[in-house]
Amino acid sequence: MNIEQLGYLGFNSTEPSAFTQYATNVLGMQSVDLETGRPSFRIDSNEQRVIVETSDTNGAAYMGWELSDSSALRAAAGEVEATGVAVTEATIEELEVRRVAEMVHFLDPAGHRVELYSGAAKTRDAFDSPRGIPSFVAEELGLGHVVLSTRTLAETQAFYVDVLGFKVSDYMIDSPFTATFLHCNPRHHSIALADGNFFNIPNVMHHFMLEIEDENEVGRAWDYVQAENVPVAMNIGRHTNDNMFSFYVASPVGVLTEFGAGGCLIDDATWEPWQMPGPDVWGHKHGH
Ligand SMILES: [Fe+2]
Repeated sequence: MNIEQLGYLGFNSTEPSAFTQYATNVLGMQSVDLETGRPSFRIDSNEQRVIVETSDTNGAAYMGWELSDSSALRAAAGEVEATGVAVTEATIEELEVRRVAEMVHFLDPAGHRVELYSGAAKTRDAFDSPRGIPSFVAEELGLGHVVLSTRTLAETQAFYVDVLGFKVSDYMIDSPFTATFLHCNPRHHSIALADGNFFNIPNVMHHFMLEIEDENEVGRAWDYVQAENVPVAMNIGRHTNDNMFSFYVASPVGVLTEFGAGGCLIDDATWEPWQMPGPDVWGHKHGH
């Protein structure tokens, strides 16, 4: 199958208003009212990229991955089902909340809810960031990337590569942890899988990444985070593989956000997966 991009993310939140404050004031996403009964946020011409579900738990709820059209989606659903994974059709309400034409969902081997969809609603309204961010690097590259922890890395990786069709960008082994970075479009990685055994954490979404055009905007966001005492998970640094200049903040739902600029693009015609020596060129030290 040919997944084209990471289209949307849904988060469970016990306090959606706190996430709204975070998404707008810290991340500079635009809050939009789509009359879905949920806070939602945009960063580009998609009507929304992040959706918040009121819940008695906090954390990632679902990831939406885009297929080009209905027939591609149906074929993809069939390929997943053929592996013995139970695939469920979206309800009308789920389609309305996500503002997509069609969607099916299932669980990956680590229990993360994966949604495949086609037909995301777009808007021609100009993007208007509450923090004045001119634009995010999104559109056909997708909303950014996610990093999932899994206690069964080999099995989870096989599912994303062999069934869902992601391609390996690069990987690291015990340096200090083991992880694999996967792409579905020129963005260096739209998803990475990290060995949860190393961190002794369950199968959760560790972070989602938003990318902006200008490294100065990362610096301005850093100033804001410092001034407002937003909890920092990892200080500014640069990643080895995608070259991202970024820092990590803690969202109110427990999933971190990587906020970065300068991510590299890769060309499948010439790209060779490689074993990286470690995650960082410099920086990304933990805490304040
Ligand atoms: Fe990342």
